[in-house]
Amino acid sequence: MGKNTQNVKDPEIGNVDDKGDGGASGAETSQAEKGESPPSLSRVFQIIKPEGKVLLVGFILLFAAEATTQVIPLIVAKAYNAIIDFTMDPDERMSDVHYYMLVSIIIFLSGSVATFIRFSIFAVAAERCVARLRIQLYGSILNQDIAFFDVHKSGELISRLGSDTTLLQGVVSQSIPESLGNIVKAIVSVILTFYISPELAGVSLGIIIVIVLMASPLGISLGKLSKLYQDALGEAQTHSTEAIGQMRTVQSFTAEMKEKKRFSDNIGDPAMYPLWFPKSKEGKAKSTLIVGFWKSIYSAGFFSIIFGGGFGFLYGCLWYGFHLVNKGDITLGDLTAFQAYVFNIGLGLGTASTNVVKVIEAFGACGRIFFLLDAIPSIPTPPKKGEEPKTLLKPGKFEGHLKFDNVKFAYPSRPNIDVLDGVSLSISPGTTTALVGGSGSGKSTVVALLQRFYDINSGSIKIDGNDIKDVDIQWLRQKIGYVQQEPQLFGLSVRDNLLYGLPDEKVISQEVMEQACRDANCHDFISSWPDGYETLVGERGVQVSGGQKQRISIARALITDCRLLLLDEATSALDAESEHLVQEAIDNAVVGRTVVIVAHRLSTIQRATQIVVMNKHKVVDVGTHDYLLENCLKYRELIKRQNMVSSGSTTALKELDS
Ligand SMILES: Nc1ncnc2c1ncn2[C@@H]1O[C@H](COP(=O)(O)OP(=O)(O)OP(=O)(O)O)[C@@H](O)[C@H]1O
Ligand SMILES: [Mg+2]
Repeated sequence: MGKNTQNVKDPEIGNVDDKGDGGASGAETSQAEKGESPPSLSRVFQIIKPEGKVLLVGFILLFAAEATTQVIPLIVAKAYNAIIDFTMDPDERMSDVHYYMLVSIIIFLSGSVATFIRFSIFAVAAERCVARLRIQLYGSILNQDIAFFDVHKSGELISRLGSDTTLLQGVVSQSIPESLGNIVKAIVSVILTFYISPELAGVSLGIIIVIVLMASPLGISLGKLSKLYQDALGEAQTHSTEAIGQMRTVQSFTAEMKEKKRFSDNIGDPAMYPLWFPKSKEGKAKSTLIVGFWKSIYSAGFFSIIFGGGFGFLYGCLWYGFHLVNKGDITLGDLTAFQAYVFNIGLGLGTASTNVVKVIEAFGACGRIFFLLDAIPSIPTPPKKGEEPKTLLKPGKFEGHLKFDNVKFAYPSRPNIDVLDGVSLSISPGTTTALVGGSGSGKSTVVALLQRFYDINSGSIKIDGNDIKDVDIQWLRQKIGYVQQEPQLFGLSVRDNLLYGLPDEKVISQEVMEQACRDANCHDFISSWPDGYETLVGERGVQVSGGQKQRISIARALITDCRLLLLDEATSALDAESEHLVQEAIDNAVVGRTVVIVAHRLSTIQRATQIVVMNKHKVVDVGTHDYLLENCLKYRELIKRQNMVSSGSTTALKELDS
């Protein structure tokens, strides 16, 4: 999935033919599975189209500047010819030289001004393109359904948003204009060499074609290697982002060395490989070091052919040129101009090819970007081909009738394992339903399905009599307050976290916010902090305790004034005092709402209107605490095994214990 499994199967990196994901089977080998769409030039043009007009001005300036400045050597040639023209007196000769050199300098300065303007145009246009692209890309990522995030790691997505788009920026701002500018320079120079001496130019052109033909396979291979390099770097980044995000787990398991090794496997530790020809010993054939080794060798070969061939060609042509001067076919001035043009051709081709390599490299990155831009989330259900999108329901009121009818569900990432196997349950408005059951029985899954994080495989989920698939997803989620099993806060202030669920335009008073916090039992500790509600909670809320995080999350849900509250009680043990405080928060939160709570504590379970007992992906019984204690063996076992007995447990439970 994604790029973490791609491009690592080619055993021999020296062979840069990029076909090789050969190990995977069937549909898994498709580009979509690799997280790439086929890159196409027309798509790249679509990205830069909004800057089309200004880029056109840039291109006109580029062509004008490159073409006109190529005339300079011809004018300078006239100055050379004038200075050795002994039919004129010295003053006349110098006055001609002054004239030609002045014209040359004026043309050169005008060219420089045009270059400054076009350079700025391309750079600014590229900034605009990449900013637009990043926003689009981020928007597209945010729109994906939860199943997408089950398989695409955050590091991988971050690397697409960051380094892949940066590659594209470099291409628009530099590589494309530089390649085109240098190609124009080379073409104009070739034409002018024909003007000076068709014979000499013919020889030169022949040599240029040979050089280009020799270098182009290397250039193409370099493009492929650059893409592999990006992939390897992306993979390293994916793992390191994950580890850095979970530093506490890494350090508490003293897994620093393990993480370092995983990273250095992807990067390729130079200490493990010889300086020359690093052949993979341990399977990690596509580390950045190994790909980088071949990339360096191919680059060296490519540029040696282009520049070495280019300059060798220059001296060869000059040699032949002296022969023509000697014969009287061209003047010495012509030969100096010719020399300048041949130099321009060599340099132009060299620079153009460097940039073409970058364009090819970015083209590969585009495939990954397009994949994300094109990814169509399956929730809300996309319209079928040729069909109009369905108008989704936004009922005026959310009553709170919830119904699961014979729901079967498997997570898209594990399609063969039924996590819910024919689950039916019915919830009435204003009631509290507790979901209980062993770990992995599917409780959190029920909560996820109520928010339509996933679509079910069969059966139906109804919200106030409407199928969940017919209801507007934004409308639905706005009615829901959700407190996760492992609540997450953002690295913002407490206030910003509390207001996270409100639309930007909605303002609530400090009193309303504080009341929600009192209800959630978090006002006291927040206001005891020196910065109160402005206290920063650290990345993902690391600077607050587990119990505090839970209560802030409950307050965050209450502030949205949700009609349906989904509470996934944390399984992590809280001390008696925090447990009591969280319990009070829950008691306050359930008043006047429909509540579904995944409950692990007896106190929570006892208070519920109905309790749904889940076991092995099915609902085994539904009822009140007392009813279930009497009639449901599974429930009795659960209560006993999970040690949820509190001091106020019922007589039935005591009987069970005895
Ligand atoms: N995103 C996911 N992708 C694939 N499988 C998943 C995913 N989330 C959960 N599962 C699997 O689905 C099953 C039910 O998980 P679920 O989280 O609903 O259990 P639970 O009843 O909430 O358990 P717990 O009490 O431990 O929180 C488990 O076997 C779990 O491994
Ligand atoms: Mg759970």
